[in-house]
Amino acid sequence: METLVFYSDLDDFERWRRLLIEALPDLEVMRAEEIEDPERVRYALVWKPPRGFFARWPRLGMIVNLGAGVDALVDRDDLPPVPITRLVDPNMARMMAGYVLFSVLRYVREIPFFERMQRESRWEYRHPRNAEDVRVGVLGLGALGACTARELARQGFSVAGWSRGEKRIAGIECRHGMESLADFLAGCEILVVMLPSTPQTRGLLDAERLALLPAGAKLVNVSRGDIVDEYALDALLASGRLGGATLDVFEREPLPVSSPLWSRENVLITPHLASVALPESAVAQIADNIGRIRQGLAPLHCVDPQRGY
Ligand SMILES: NC(=O)c1ccc[n+]([C@@H]2O[C@H](COP(=O)([O-])OP(=O)(O)OC[C@H]3O[C@@H](n4cnc5c(N)ncnc54)[C@H](OP(=O)(O)O)[C@@H]3O)[C@@H](O)[C@H]2O)c1
Repeated sequence: METLVFYSDLDDFERWRRLLIEALPDLEVMRAEEIEDPERVRYALVWKPPRGFFARWPRLGMIVNLGAGVDALVDRDDLPPVPITRLVDPNMARMMAGYVLFSVLRYVREIPFFERMQRESRWEYRHPRNAEDVRVGVLGLGALGACTARELARQGFSVAGWSRGEKRIAGIECRHGMESLADFLAGCEILVVMLPSTPQTRGLLDAERLALLPAGAKLVNVSRGDIVDEYALDALLASGRLGGATLDVFEREPLPVSSPLWSRENVLITPHLASVALPESAVAQIADNIGRIRQGLAPLHCVDPQRGY
């Protein structure tokens, strides 16, 4: 019998085990400490396992990253030469699109303003805007970014997207490559960051690039904190040059109590939960990939460690 070894400090092992065994009754699903025969371990489903973890399984055939973002995994120097896959699940994408849609609508419908007015018992009418007049830019058009861009377009917003390679998505103005970034940023009333954290994207939104956004623009970061220079972002929010930010991810998590972002009126902070791995739907993809490996096929949704995503 083949074994899948599970490692995560965050996820519910029993739930994953039950669902994986339901999908693949001939698979054994165990935590590392339960395993007596390391030779049987063919698959690893992991979120931030400790250093040296993979060396314990000499016949490992596939690593599944328990999540969409793989920056914590591909940065390691102890990875065995086996395919690395990540979770790509339409339900995770829908959860992410829902978070971003909420954030964008909250700005467009001026909810922070009405919340303030309510606290002062003031009836202040502000006429709602036309969705088409609002230009939303999505940086990153991958599994999560493309789904989100489509959802925003479905709501009638004018949506532009930016990726590394050329893309075509109906209803989205697609741009690509570094040469188009400055122009792209200058056209975004609301900028949504959905890029993976890689050597190329870390620090991408520095003070200079953030300053290219139109005055009063809003930023929504749902991918990784290290893509945005948090110090520069805070300064632009403090001065009012940027109108607001919705931040789910940070350079350091948990966000330190000393961060000035906590107390900025124009910032909404959530603790890294815009989208989470959903075992009920993600198990199908893992089972499918195990089936592919057993048939000698390459698994789907592989990560390229050199590229970083
Ligand atoms: N906050 C949360 O709860 C949460 C949950 C899940 C995931 N995440 C984050 O969301 C990120 C995106 O997920 P995903 O599944 O959509 O990733 P993905 O499918 O790998 O897509 C990444 C997108 O970013 C683009 N990209 C990468 N490097 C680039 C560069 N240097 N310049 C321009 N574009 C670049 C890619 O361009 P190409 O299409 O040309 O390759 C692609 O469109 C994850 O990496 C993770 O960090 C956050």
